[in-house]
Amino acid sequence: ALERTLSIIKPDAVAKNLIGAIYNRFESAGLRIVAAKMMHLSKEQAEGFYAEHKERPFFGALVEFMTSGPIVVQVLEGEDAVRKNRDIMGATNPAEALAGTLRADYAETIDENAVHGSDAVESAAREIAYFFSDEEICPRTR
Ligand code: CMP
Repeated sequence: ALERTLSIIKPDAVAKNLIGAIYNRFESAGLRIVAAKMMHLSKEQAEGFYAEHKERPFFGALVEFMTSGPIVVQVLEGEDAVRKNRDIMGATNPAEALAGTLRADYAETIDENAVHGSDAVESAAREIAYFFSDEEICPRTR
């Protein structure tokens, strides 16, 4: 099905100058970038985005990391976009990520793992709405 998913290029990957390389992976796989912005999250924004992980032991470190520098947030659109983006990213833990995935190529640790992607169509809708208004999403007309 035609889907949208939320993608984040995390502070570690922005710091390594990998924005273009990562966008190339999305576009080469046929995903269209239909919304995009660079931001530096506040503590409140990061806590809100990751609210489902509030009780996890890594929550404090996660918020600290995600506020440590600028990120690039985008909406990816395409056939099977949620799963396609997860395949491009690889496993959450780079040590378990398949060769050729973003996390295998660009991430060192599970805490600083280069990218985030929605894990399901339902979470994608919520995560897209967290960062983008309807007017900021630009479907392709050509
Ligand atoms: P992300 O997809 O952004 O969602 C939550 C993040 O928490 C995850 O990527 C990891 O970077 C980080 N994290 C740290 N430790 C863990 C863990 N044990 N399990 C899942 N996520 C973790």
